[in-house]
This record gives sequence, C-alpha cells and structure tokens, in this order.
Amino acid sequence: MKYKTEKKGNHEEVSTFCVPLKIIEDDVKDFLSLSPDTLMHTLRVARIAQDLSATTEKRVDLNILMSSCLLHDNARPFIERSKGDMSLHAKEGAHLAQDYLNEKKLFDKSMNKKIVRCIEEHSRSVGPKPSTIEAKILFDADKLDAFNHFRISRYFKNLAINNQGKSQLSLYRGNRIKNFTVEEFVAYFNKKLNSIADSLFLPSSKEEAERLLPLSLQFLQTIEKSSFLN
Ligand SMILES: [Fe+2]
Ligand SMILES: [Fe+2]
Repeated sequence: MKYKTEKKGNHEEVSTFCVPLKIIEDDVKDFLSLSPDTLMHTLRVARIAQDLSATTEKRVDLNILMSSCLLHDNARPFIERSKGDMSLHAKEGAHLAQDYLNEKKLFDKSMNKKIVRCIEEHSRSVGPKPSTIEAKILFDADKLDAFNHFRISRYFKNLAINNQGKSQLSLYRGNRIKNFTVEEFVAYFNKKLNSIADSLFLPSSKEEAERLLPLSLQFLQTIEKSSFLN
C-alpha cells in the first residue's frame, strides 16, 4: 500500500513512498503468510488508521502509527498455534515488535519505544489504556475493522453441523475453542457491534462506527438467513 508520511495543514496530506514502512510491510507479509485472515486484517487496519489520521487536528506521527498498525497483531498466529491465551497477544506482540525493531534499526530507540507502546495499548483485555494519539487511532481502526463484511463472513468459514443437527461455529476465544450455534453467534456479534461506537476515542471513529453499524447488522442477518439449517 502507499503510505502518507507527511501532513500539510490540518487535513491535506501528501503521499510519499516511505522505505521503513515498505520494509515492515514486506516483513509482516512474510510473518503472517500462513495466517491470511490476520494479514488482511492488519492491512485493513493500516488503511483505516491512515484515513482516521486525516480527521484529527492533532499532529499524528504517521511512521509511528503505520508501523504499529502493521505490527499490532503479529503475536496472534503464534499464540493460536501454541493454544496460548489470546488476551495476551498485545503484550506478546509488543515484545516481538521490540525485538524486531531493535534488530532492523529502521528508526531510533525513542521511536521504537513509541511504536511498541501503541501495540501494547491496542487491546483493553489486559493492556493499558491508549495514551497517545497514534495509540488511540490504532485502537479505533482495529475496532472499526470488526464491521468489515469480508471479516464477518470469515467467522462462518468453519461452519459445521452439531449433534442436534444445528449449524455450529467453532471460534478461538481467550485460550480455548468455543462452539456457538449460528443464532448464538449472531446474537453475540450483534451485541459486540452495537457496543463498538462507545469504546472509540476519536469523534470521527464514532461517526464511522454509526455509519457502518446498520450495514454490518444487515449483512449478519443475511448470513444468518442463509445458514438454512437453523
Ligand atoms: Fe489485536
Ligand atoms: Fe487487530
């Protein structure tokens, strides 16, 4: 993707090719090559974050923001493979990013620290609250991706039939696989989508969540109706 690394005035941005970000993007594509869902989510989050950065009057360091977006979920595939606790992925991801950035020397130490902090703060399950504008944008972009229709459809990829003849989904939750019937999942996800706007930091993120909510709920309903076994 193209990275905008300069801001002119409050909203106008200049698109420039940025070598460190291109290197990180290529490395992330490599790390996540066996986890296409996480990779696609990561790239979408970077895109959403870039758009959100143009909506704030605050000065946003786009190198910090884009680097943290690209690296934010790197620990997910490792945790999933080792059946570890997914609620720790932000903390684990921060450690992985720290090692990666130290080794690559793309930015100075203080920048690396700021990037790592954004990653640590992107999940509220155990991590601290986002403390900088870049961390808040990453947090919001990550949550806004929950409305993505392709992502929603991927939850249904492992649809199976349970003993009662009902369609059932198996999803990784916390540190275990949880089974949901389609009705249970739709109810759970409906509630989740409805609660997103309140958790966001930027007014523009909240507006976007409100715009996307009815579209995603309708999509979810369409999928539910299509799972004809229930
Ligand atoms: Fe995450
Ligand atoms: Fe994420």
